[in-house]
Amino acid sequence: MPAELVCFERKCRARYPITEVIYNCPKCGGLLEAGYDRPEQSAPMLRRLWRDRRTSNAPLDQSGVWRYREMIPFLQSYNCVVTLREGNTPLLEARQAAHYGGLDRIIFKHQGFNPTGSFKDNGMTCGTAQALRLGMTRVACVSTGNTSASMAAYASAAGLQPIIFIPHGNISYGKLAQALEYGARTLQVEANFDQILPLVRQLAERLGIYLLNSINPFRIEGQKTIMTELMDQRDWRVPDWIVLPGGNLGNVSAFGKSLREMKDLGLIDRLPRLAVIQATGAAPFYELMQGRRRKLPAVEHPETLATAIKIGDPVSWPKARHEVTTSEGIVEKVTEQEIADAKAVIGRSGIGCEPASAATLAGIRKLTAAGVIAADADVVAVLTGNVLKDPDYIFRYHTGTLEAPDGSRLESNFGNAPIVVPNDPKRIAKILKD
Ligand code: F0G
Repeated sequence: MPAELVCFERKCRARYPITEVIYNCPKCGGLLEAGYDRPEQSAPMLRRLWRDRRTSNAPLDQSGVWRYREMIPFLQSYNCVVTLREGNTPLLEARQAAHYGGLDRIIFKHQGFNPTGSFKDNGMTCGTAQALRLGMTRVACVSTGNTSASMAAYASAAGLQPIIFIPHGNISYGKLAQALEYGARTLQVEANFDQILPLVRQLAERLGIYLLNSINPFRIEGQKTIMTELMDQRDWRVPDWIVLPGGNLGNVSAFGKSLREMKDLGLIDRLPRLAVIQATGAAPFYELMQGRRRKLPAVEHPETLATAIKIGDPVSWPKARHEVTTSEGIVEKVTEQEIADAKAVIGRSGIGCEPASAATLAGIRKLTAAGVIAADADVVAVLTGNVLKDPDYIFRYHTGTLEAPDGSRLESNFGNAPIVVPNDPKRIAKILKD
């Protein structure tokens, strides 16, 4: 069987050619995923092949996505691949953060080390490859910032025209600046993420523009390699928990699919548990999993300073629910204050990340306090975005001027305000002695 698009709904499982331009199942409306035959190579052969490729100078092998191309064999030819050497993100240990999170040890997989500073690059190299393969000339997405920054870069590098739709006034300048710099046509819509998505879908269909939101199954394929690379870096030792923030829920869908596939192939011997952390003001997935409801209770007006995950009606929730349930995982929510403090602690560890990423450590702190995660558990938290994505937030936190969406002032519990000093060595010396 060559690669196919398969309906994710168990009751349907309709199949379509891999080159069909569809984002939902035409039969039942379900989400789509890429389906493949098993690779020819055995697990030990794949492990060796991937390890050997680390010493190669071929662009495809240097990519932390395409190095693992046997996991994502949806292309017939790799001529249409544009790589900015995405992936290749480090595992970083942080003692201070571990202590704060109630753990003996914590490992961060820092996706902020990607070319445009977020995990979106892992998916975008695949999405743009598929766009080129299909002969598309324009690509579009709605975004809380990182998807647009990433799509702008990859599309421009590939010679495609990027068109991005962003909620006006609700994305950080770091991300908006990237989209402008990478040459995207940038439309700021006076609506929130959830309202803009149907608009973009309609326009994409009407104008023949290829949609690169995470509803696009090829984006998910690329993000799967975050887990493959993680396991490769750990010499295939499976952690107890993998913790990540949840917004539109594409990433948890990708992680779950990757882990299941790696287990089926014998690359790993068990599934780690997935813990998804949401911000209190944008936590429909938390509510879904809490109440064992059948349908996602969408949040009409999501609110959080972690604008990357300010999403009230995430499209990938059926996939996300499947992955969290299959892995015996959990969903937690954390407050603005908890996110802000956890972020500062990650910063003080010399690592740093953007606000949405810090939801991981805030969630871990809550889950260890509740006894869900044991102090001696082997925990990997995925930091999804770079510290420089949202400098305004950082400055406000450290100077005690950060306000929650409800207007209340957040405490600067780990604040580190700059000190204004006169141009006078004696007085500066005195200050530094204190
Ligand atoms: N962390 C960061 C830094 C993000 O940018 C996002 C999503 C998430 C976490 C959540 O990931 O949607 O897969 O659950 N950002 C999207 C965007 C929505 O438009 O950039 P998810």
